[in-house]
Amino acid sequence: MAAKGAYPSFSSRLAFIIAAAGSAVGLGNVWGFTYVAGANGGGGFVLIYLVALAFVAGPAFMAEMLIGRMGKASPPTALGKLQSRAGSKLNWPTVGWIGLIGTLMVLSFYAVIAGQAMYYGLVALEGGFAGWGEEAVTALDADFKADPVSMAIWSAVFMAFTASIVSFDISKGIERAGKVMMPLLFLMLIGLVVYAGQIGDWGRAASFLFGFHEINFSSRLFLEAVGQAFFTLGVGVGGLMTYGSYMGDDVRLPRATFWIVAMDLFVALAAGMAIFPLVFASGVEPTAGPGLVFLTLPNIFSAIPGGAFVAFVFFLLLTFAAVTSSISLLAPTVQRLAEANIRRPVAACLMAGVAVLLSLLTVYSFAGGREVYPLASFGLDGMTAFDLIREGVSNFILPLSGFAYCLIIGWSLSREDVRTALPMAEGRLFTLWYMVVRVIAPLAIAALFIGAVIG
Ligand code: PFF
Repeated sequence: MAAKGAYPSFSSRLAFIIAAAGSAVGLGNVWGFTYVAGANGGGGFVLIYLVALAFVAGPAFMAEMLIGRMGKASPPTALGKLQSRAGSKLNWPTVGWIGLIGTLMVLSFYAVIAGQAMYYGLVALEGGFAGWGEEAVTALDADFKADPVSMAIWSAVFMAFTASIVSFDISKGIERAGKVMMPLLFLMLIGLVVYAGQIGDWGRAASFLFGFHEINFSSRLFLEAVGQAFFTLGVGVGGLMTYGSYMGDDVRLPRATFWIVAMDLFVALAAGMAIFPLVFASGVEPTAGPGLVFLTLPNIFSAIPGGAFVAFVFFLLLTFAAVTSSISLLAPTVQRLAEANIRRPVAACLMAGVAVLLSLLTVYSFAGGREVYPLASFGLDGMTAFDLIREGVSNFILPLSGFAYCLIIGWSLSREDVRTALPMAEGRLFTLWYMVVRVIAPLAIAALFIGAVIG
């Protein structure tokens, strides 16, 4: 057991990998991936997303965890330490602070969506959905969204749950949550894929996700695919940096990264193969947008054998995925407050409270403010507060912070320092990753933004 006052750490290599995989696997894999892939035409989008994972977000993911490992503190403090080490005049902690703001932005909409998932899980537990018909399902979603108070209460319940886990020491809280929820999540997901294969249209789902279709390559599509790659791995807000700071010296980061990215990808594709076979078999369109999970799917649950049970398993899975990610989103600010000698439980409640307050913006966007576009006069017409927060964080803050992490690791710290901190046994692999972090990933992100501005 760590001495009181010592810097927290995960109790084993496996515990770190499970926690980091828990952070990566989240609403982004199930709710986000399926709707973004569905809305963007499937196969072609998935291909760009895979390339972005391998060459941009994946390498940046390792860079972020490495910064945490080298700085052993909350993101702003860790970056400050590394800045002094590198003797740079730029203000590195700013990147950490922007990340902390990003964690609260993600939590603000995460809580609302996870809250709805919890509520739907409860409805299913009471035998809901089975045999309901379209009208009842639409009414459930509409009633939920017409009632901002209950949306806010469910968000608060979700955040309270998150805060209660983060309040504990790392090994008793974050670590244990991952060890319990992640295996269950995998089990439920595999069960759903098998079930969907039996009653759904697997062939069409596979060709939708993996086949080539006519696709409109636009700079926006690239931005969405790269944004999704960053979001799904959770790179760019300091959650992984914080987990990286808790990792033991025995973790071989490159290998751990490989496994975490593989698990994340597996869950996204498996979620697609659990959801789209049912979508196609029911003859509905895969392009439903954010409503895919709360409207299209429940409609399907209402018509299939064992619908209430399948719905319960699905929404429980979604809730577990959300919790293991939200704890990694709350951890960075809590760690920063702990450095100011604020006790973890107090810090966790405080920051969860801030996230609940911010979540009211998303609540409003789903309820009365569905057609309120706060930045319409700045050319962002048609975007609600929720759209602005979601796209702002995943398409801007995450890739830009990832850009900064790559430059820090690739250019500002010495190659030897980086190599020793990884450590990476194979020289060639290190050279490849180092080149990607130094050149390819930053150039790709820069090109993306230039494309988005002129496109
Ligand atoms: N990776 C999570 C998802 O796919 O839902 C979201 C996320 C988690 C983003 C942790 C950022 C983060 F630090």
